[in-house]
Amino acid sequence: MQNFTFSNPTKIIFGKAVVAKLGPEAAKAGKKALFVYGGGSIKKNGVYDVLTGALAKEGITVVEHHGVKPNPVLSHVRSGIKKARENNCGLVVAAGGGSVIDEAKAIAAGAKYTGDVWDFFCGKAGIREALPIFTALTLPATGSEMNSGCVVTNEGTAQKFSAQGAPLFPRVSVLDPETTMTLPKAQVANGAVDSIAHLIEGYFTTKDADAAVTDEIVHALARSVIASTERILKDPSDYNARASMMWSATLALNGLASCGYGGMNFINHAIEHALSALYDIAHGAGLAIVMPAWFKHHLKTDGPARLEKFGAGVFGTRTAGETIKAFEAFFRKAGAPVRLSGAGIPAADIPRIAENALGLIRMWGMKHEQPEIEKILGYAK
Ligand code: NZQ
Ligand code: ZN
Repeated sequence: MQNFTFSNPTKIIFGKAVVAKLGPEAAKAGKKALFVYGGGSIKKNGVYDVLTGALAKEGITVVEHHGVKPNPVLSHVRSGIKKARENNCGLVVAAGGGSVIDEAKAIAAGAKYTGDVWDFFCGKAGIREALPIFTALTLPATGSEMNSGCVVTNEGTAQKFSAQGAPLFPRVSVLDPETTMTLPKAQVANGAVDSIAHLIEGYFTTKDADAAVTDEIVHALARSVIASTERILKDPSDYNARASMMWSATLALNGLASCGYGGMNFINHAIEHALSALYDIAHGAGLAIVMPAWFKHHLKTDGPARLEKFGAGVFGTRTAGETIKAFEAFFRKAGAPVRLSGAGIPAADIPRIAENALGLIRMWGMKHEQPEIEKILGYAK
């Protein structure tokens, strides 16, 4: 087990009817908020009314910035920064899924920076300050509600890159599992796959395979994601399954599930971001295609030990091959594609996808080359 520092300053308020509690929390940071949301799901499920009511009750004036796209784009981030500056917003409130929260984070950092916000994503500048961020999460998946990262697509260059920095940790996030009951089935699947992806990246690329407590945390969270998803698919109104799923997804990428691994790499994410940058598919759908392929490659390069351990702890499987099949079976059962063809992506595009993935691979300091990425994608045909 390697040395680590674990620090997570985000306050989580979790449970039924907690959305309104964001009002008094936000009021501690200021009286004028940029309110960021997406295409309108929060208007249908009531979150919009509850949250704007709670902010108004605290005397907070709201400047709306809506229309955040799934896989948020740089031009919309830039217009949010302009709005936040012109209106002297002192804080950012986000309500929605990971895309909304990520865009809110990028705006919060960009509003405090004199240069162009893309500098943070291409490594030209570090994030030293940001407007305080408050979130109401409605889609369990990314962990953005309790981590310091954000992902934005530069639609001009087809680069889907990430930025990171301590000022991006939300101050407070409210997680009401009931708000997730309006999620379409496809988004339930995407969220489940993404949470599993966050658990496996560290587990399979760890520099230290003897960090037993973290391995057990990963196993438990993966079992919880799988069991909760199966219950949700059977009964979308199952509150406790929604609650378990929501908290599992947060814990999967808030730093806890990789303590002691001494370093990890996000190779599946780097390859997936190329898919969602080029084809605008959902992140979870892209990961369901990449992960089984990468596992097949991992088995060849690193042997069966981690696949066997994960399989025994999560699926009750015995061999590495059975574990890969169990992953695929779960992704299929949830309704996610597990091959490029399932998402309508032609195998002939593999070189182009691999080339795009190299951008993030270099940004994240990984050593892989294009032929290796093409080989991995070859397993996803
Ligand atoms: O836009 P609205 O109308 O809100 O609809 C959204 C969107 O269409 C809808 N939705 C959200 N909550 C809902 C709902 N529909 C009905 N009921 C609800 N309760 O779901 C659709 C997808 O939302 P999105 O936010 O795009 O999904 P997700 O949370 O999966 O976020 C994906 C983005 O996060 C990035 C991904 O790359 C992708 O861009 N990631 C962010 C990470 C981070 N910040 O740490 C890590 C991840 O690995 C990931 O890369
Ligand atoms: Zn992810």
